[in-house]
Amino acid sequence: MPEPIVELRGIVKVYPDGVKALDGVDLRLYPGLVHAILGENGAGKTTLMRILYGEIRPTRGEIIIRGRRVRLRSTVDGIRNGIAMVYQHPRLVPTLTVRENILLYFHSAGIDPGELEERLRRAQEITGFSAPLDERVEDLPVGVRQRVDILRGIAAGARVLILDEPTTNLSPIEVEGLMNAIKGMKREGIAIAYITHRLPEVMEIADTVTVLRKGRVVASEVDPRSLGEEGLARLMVGEVPPPPPKERGKRLGEPVLRIHGLRARGKIEVYIDELVVREGEVLGVAGVEGNGQDELVAAIVGYGERLEGWVEVLGRRNPSPREFYKIGGAYIPGDRRKALALFFSVAENLAFLRYAHEGPALLTPGRLVALYREVAEEYNVVAGSPWAPVRSLSGGNQQKLLVGSQLHMKPRLLVAVNPTRGLDVATTRYVRGLIAGLASRGAGVLLVSTDLDEILEVSDRIAVISRGRIAGVLSPEEATPEKLGLLMGGGR
Ligand SMILES: Nc1ncnc2c1ncn2[C@@H]1O[C@H](COP(=O)(O)OP(=O)(O)OP(=O)(O)O)[C@@H](O)[C@H]1O
Ligand SMILES: [Mg+2]
Repeated sequence: MPEPIVELRGIVKVYPDGVKALDGVDLRLYPGLVHAILGENGAGKTTLMRILYGEIRPTRGEIIIRGRRVRLRSTVDGIRNGIAMVYQHPRLVPTLTVRENILLYFHSAGIDPGELEERLRRAQEITGFSAPLDERVEDLPVGVRQRVDILRGIAAGARVLILDEPTTNLSPIEVEGLMNAIKGMKREGIAIAYITHRLPEVMEIADTVTVLRKGRVVASEVDPRSLGEEGLARLMVGEVPPPPPKERGKRLGEPVLRIHGLRARGKIEVYIDELVVREGEVLGVAGVEGNGQDELVAAIVGYGERLEGWVEVLGRRNPSPREFYKIGGAYIPGDRRKALALFFSVAENLAFLRYAHEGPALLTPGRLVALYREVAEEYNVVAGSPWAPVRSLSGGNQQKLLVGSQLHMKPRLLVAVNPTRGLDVATTRYVRGLIAGLASRGAGVLLVSTDLDEILEVSDRIAVISRGRIAGVLSPEEATPEKLGLLMGGGR
């Protein structure tokens, strides 16, 4: 191994509310190597990286950069020490243009704005990314924002790049672009810290792996290829149960969702001729993000425009969102930040999430705390207390709260979009089991997911959505990845 660029020694972090997120962690990052940092939800991965970036301070421990001990008082110090961090949701100012965002960053890094063109050219060479300089960030899709975020870090001369679950919101093609960029950065000798729950990515890109469990290192600088995906999963969470066998020849009941001649418009126009979900089945909707999934779901749940045709949920034509929940619908949106109020407490969020279903009677503190206890226990949500703000939960625990709040209602129709996004391997398996279980107890599920493994694991039938149309409906037996890929790409 070469000399590390960064060394973290004995890092302890106790958050102000007393949560001990890290308990004596050591980590080294080396030039030109991708170091994957793995661990179950709440293990302390993001906390460790925020410390290295200077966003939060460790309670104890040392940060050594290029052999010198440093004290990082803010992210400006992090940036000036050559550290860049890319969050799942890029931290760019939405109302400013890409150029303005990059200049702001250069200002933090103490770089002359006159060097913008030359530095960007170089960063583009390294990453293969380009940036639409004059466009406003709010008009750009998430994948492009992430590229801008990476580019500006590299343009500012970062020697260490932290990627926290970078592929969560990317399409397969964008993931490929990111992997190529990482290879380019490796050749430049940039050190990369790579956090993910997706083990195939670790196999593809990581040179070395460190695993955290409950704030401690349980495996340090191990070789991913010699352990394999199974071995890594065991280190992270212990044994992972196999997926439950599919029930064959299930008897289906009445339709819980019917769609007829629906035309809806959002970012694109969607037309669905016929689609039915019956009691007892999981209908998977596979497709590349942006092919009409959002518009379809919005039309079902009731907050989207329905231009023509109709949606029938549990016998009710074109329900409003309030009616949707009242009659037994539940909804897990693909972006949890659309459903959670981050600055409000866990208990308050449960009240928001359940209001339409439960009515105002739920809104007593006593009921909320009881509800929190049930949901937290059943879905393993780790939070400091019912009154801790949701933003203090790890990403995976936020997701578990959202999923738990909906499943706990025992809905008759569940509309779930990428429900296991950001969940660790064991929790992913658990949630998929819950969704399958909901259906075997007689509910209907519309599972919209960009993850083909997820679709194949739990669906009884699979509809492929492409450019706003259902390109085909397959049984799991017919649905090979090749066949699905062809339909997703608009073929037949
Ligand atoms: N601002 C905060 N205030 C209080 N506790 C926090 C805060 N941020 C994180 N925590 C807690 O610290 C622990 C570690 O959280 P962290 O976000 O580092 O986990 P993680 O490994 O990134 O998990 P995930 O895979 O779910 O993103 C969790 O118990 C979390 O609830
Ligand atoms: Mg995290």
